[in-house]
Amino acid sequence: MKGVILAGGSGTRLHPMTRITNKHLLPVYDKPMIYYPIETLVNAGIRDIMVVTGGNHAGEFLRLLGDGAEFGLKHLSYSYQEKAGGIAEALGLAEHFVDGDRFLVMLGDNIVEQSIAPYVDNFRAQQRGGRLLLKNMDDPEHLRHLGVPIIENGRLRFIREKPQTPPSPYAVIGVYMYDPSVFEIVRALRPSGRGELEITDVNNAYIDREEMEFDVIDGFWGDAGESIDVYYEVIDFVRAHGVNKAPAMAGR
Ligand code: TTP
Repeated sequence: MKGVILAGGSGTRLHPMTRITNKHLLPVYDKPMIYYPIETLVNAGIRDIMVVTGGNHAGEFLRLLGDGAEFGLKHLSYSYQEKAGGIAEALGLAEHFVDGDRFLVMLGDNIVEQSIAPYVDNFRAQQRGGRLLLKNMDDPEHLRHLGVPIIENGRLRFIREKPQTPPSPYAVIGVYMYDPSVFEIVRALRPSGRGELEITDVNNAYIDREEMEFDVIDGFWGDAGESIDVYYEVIDFVRAHGVNKAPAMAGR
């Protein structure tokens, strides 16, 4: 299975730091942010990876990551997003790379404590469709800034973006698994009010077709681009506890 890491965008919530660099090149404890999603994918057995980036600092990813040797990879692919046209637009750029395979997309600013390998295995065992990862959040106020699913009888019914009244205690995190039909969905999208192709519209299209499954993850999850305070919460967590831990089955 292939993996795509999205590392474009504008990063306005981390201004002014992101006026002079790409958000995913900022440090998270002892490494650039982009290292964490790459390690997440590699630890889940995904070794064929594309990084989608954009803006004025795209060349620095090549200088930093090269062919991915530091992660044990033979090769790393890259794509360039001309404008920050949305997460769904960025993932659409991976169509040629994905080449009819099933694949996993991870947002370059998301950091997870535990291995996602068991969920990737669940997706591998699926016949068709997509799979989302959810995190049970302690803080309902936080959910008002996130995508929150309605779940009925154990099935996803709809994802609401930034709901005033969260319909469940779960957040949709930035790890999505799709079959190649996602590219037809992306082509049919219209830009939202903020002028972006929205990943939530993609996920709701799969839910409409009753082809979206999910897992609820264990352990810490953070979106380091959410705000300057969350950025520092993520750094504190990484420093105190470490992330990208080996799956329990591996005997640790
Ligand atoms: P966001 O954090 O939603 O958007 P952003 O990075 O533009 O930041 P802000 O809202 O603060 O201006 O994006 C989530 C991830 O998706 C992030 O890791 C970057 C990536 N992304 C792209 O690759 N292309 C895009 O067009 C967008 C909007 C995001």
